Amino acid sequence: MNFCKILDVRLVPLLFFLIVAGCSETKEESGTKGEVAAEQPPQVCGSGSIQIEDIWITPGATGGTSGLYGTIRFEAEGADSLIEILCSETERVELHEMIPGEGEEMKMVRMTASPVLQKGKPVTLSLGGKHGMLVNLKQELKVGDSVEIGFRMGSGDTVHCTARVSTSSPAEARKSKRKLNGPGAKLYTQYCSACHGSDGAGQTGVFPPLTGSEFFKDKDRTIDAIVNGLQGEITVEGVTYNGVMPPLPDTYDDETVADVINYVLTRFGENAWQTTPEEVAGIRDRD
Ligand code: HEC
Repeated sequence: MNFCKILDVRLVPLLFFLIVAGCSETKEESGTKGEVAAEQPPQVCGSGSIQIEDIWITPGATGGTSGLYGTIRFEAEGADSLIEILCSETERVELHEMIPGEGEEMKMVRMTASPVLQKGKPVTLSLGGKHGMLVNLKQELKVGDSVEIGFRMGSGDTVHCTARVSTSSPAEARKSKRKLNGPGAKLYTQYCSACHGSDGAGQTGVFPPLTGSEFFKDKDRTIDAIVNGLQGEITVEGVTYNGVMPPLPDTYDDETVADVINYVLTRFGENAWQTTPEEVAGIRDRD
């Protein structure tokens, strides 16, 4: 069976009906859907017995490819199988897996069988394992974009989910979010926010914004500016600044400083990179 071919459009109304029918079944664990839990649960979408968790795709250029990852669970008796993955943003979606190649190496091949799902035996699409591949993208997929993905099952159901384009998995994003309550967050509020604002917007012409700042493109320079201070003319988002940012007082240890930098990058810099106390110590010593 060729599960890589694009969905036959004539099937769409039928599938839509099946999805709507499937949606009437509610999930048991609705208790976790309420107010913000300290630890966020995985993002789940699904209908009926199929639940798809933490689905995400990597960025890709027009005509290029994007990886598709997530976990597909089957929550009923019996079995189902994943026949085809559908996405209108691309020519086709293939399933790939890693198999032993010659010698020690693993090689990536296109899967020929439909993965079977059973209760307690999910199909996980992961980096380095089985994964989906969006082939020949119709347009560029950028970080932050949302893409509709359909999972057509052997049972006839097609489960539709929205996948976010990202460079890291939702699980990693949750980990970063936890950071938003650590010592770095405290230091930001007590110290940095006085100039850059609690929302990172700064004050036009006086204190540059941190939200989406192009300064973050240069990791070394950013860490250096934050720990050793910065002065002289800079341009952020088209506005010129010529102020003075004092160096961070020595009373803050390298660990807390690394934490505030990671906090700033996570919150305002799209998590472009992260640093360590060792790296901070090295850059601090320059002064
Ligand atoms: C006393 C005010 C003040 C404080 C406190 C301060 N900054 Fe700044 N910051 C500035 C000024 C002014 C500039 C621009 C300097 C220039 O014009 O060269 C700047 C520039 C920056 C830049 C580079 C430009 C940009 O917008 O990306 C970053 C990053 C930055 N600050 C982060 C921080 C962080 C993180 C903290 C807290 C650890 C902090 N700042 C604390 C005033 C401050």
